[in-house]
Amino acid sequence: MDSNLEKVRQNVIECTKCDLCKTRTNSVPGKGNFNSDVIFVGEAPGKNEDLYGEPFIGIAGKKLSEALEKTGITRDEVYITNTVKCRPPNNRVPTKLEKDACQEYIQKEIEIIKPKIICVLGNTAFGSVLGGTEITKFRGKIGKKNNQLYFITIHPAATIYNQKLVEVLKQDIKKLFDLIRELKSGKEITIDIEFSS
Ligand code: URA
Ligand code: SF4
Repeated sequence: MDSNLEKVRQNVIECTKCDLCKTRTNSVPGKGNFNSDVIFVGEAPGKNEDLYGEPFIGIAGKKLSEALEKTGITRDEVYITNTVKCRPPNNRVPTKLEKDACQEYIQKEIEIIKPKIICVLGNTAFGSVLGGTEITKFRGKIGKKNNQLYFITIHPAATIYNQKLVEVLKQDIKKLFDLIRELKSGKEITIDIEFSS
């Protein structure tokens, strides 16, 4: 692993910057390929992630893995993380205070990995990362903020009891990797939305 990323990982493991440290079992640093073209960003760890200290290993994670596999991508090829690294009690939405306290870690992950694009998973991450709301209007779209490209899609947990959304996630992930291929070949990409910083 990249040594700077290893440092971030250690800092997250030991972090006590917000009250979520009091209720967590384990903090959940990002995980995956530090040379990845894309970082997937979820909201916050759930029960399984808290127990094992790894992002997206529960049922939502399985849905994400399945959508990736259908595009011929394995989880090891990408980097997966969350806006907030410790589980909020009963999976409540993280507070602004918690999000602000945890921000520096995701910023460092992005600085170190320098992904071509960041894939925002679901409405909470969409709000935290891009200040957006109403993900249903924006999913499948390409955004830009501070010269960084973003791709917006639904949270994998939304697909658990909804076969239609399984297809939506699968199609979005396919679009994302088609886009990455185009970016790598130097093709001009059309931006759907510019987000203000
Ligand atoms: N949901 C998330 O947003 N992140 C995880 O790590 C697991 C479930
Ligand atoms: Fe630290 Fe983030 Fe965990 Fe809060 S949520 S204790 S800021 S790692």
